[in-house]
Amino acid sequence: MRVRLNVNGAWRQADVWPGASLLALLRDSLGLVGSKNACEQGECGSCSVWLDGELVCACLVLAAQADGCTVHTVESLAQGGRLHPVQEAFLDAGAVQCGFCTPGLVVAVVDLLRRDPSPSEETVREALAGNLCRCTGYQKILDAVRLAAERMTGGDRGSRA
Ligand code: FES
Ligand code: FES
Repeated sequence: MRVRLNVNGAWRQADVWPGASLLALLRDSLGLVGSKNACEQGECGSCSVWLDGELVCACLVLAAQADGCTVHTVESLAQGGRLHPVQEAFLDAGAVQCGFCTPGLVVAVVDLLRRDPSPSEETVREALAGNLCRCTGYQKILDAVRLAAERMTGGDRGSRA
């Protein structure tokens, strides 16, 4: 079946089998391999993308369900050769080891900071609960989120803990 969708600002189409996931469409048909395929069961968050503005696990969405929809992947974040502040913060905080979880985490953090520019640590932990990392022990990731939030709000984190 043919699926047509807007990916990162451009209309794309691909022929996929009816059971294909959005993740398979993105990676295998469109060559957008930033979204990672780790569990294919919605357990790890490494495939996180935005579907019509909502954060989803692309492995849990059928490609057919995305027909006519707007998708943004991690590849949409860097602009004009410059990394997104969240990507820079992950690098600067040393929050990347093997990097397999990183695209999904970056997408989830960007999503969080759009909703809550100065989240509490509890809010961050809750927002990232669906993103698994086998390498970092999570502390560096929390540091990266704090760094990104500080930079994106000009260092003014308000009165929230
Ligand atoms: S690959 Fe989609 S949640 Fe793990
Ligand atoms: S850096 Fe390796 S899984 Fe997170």
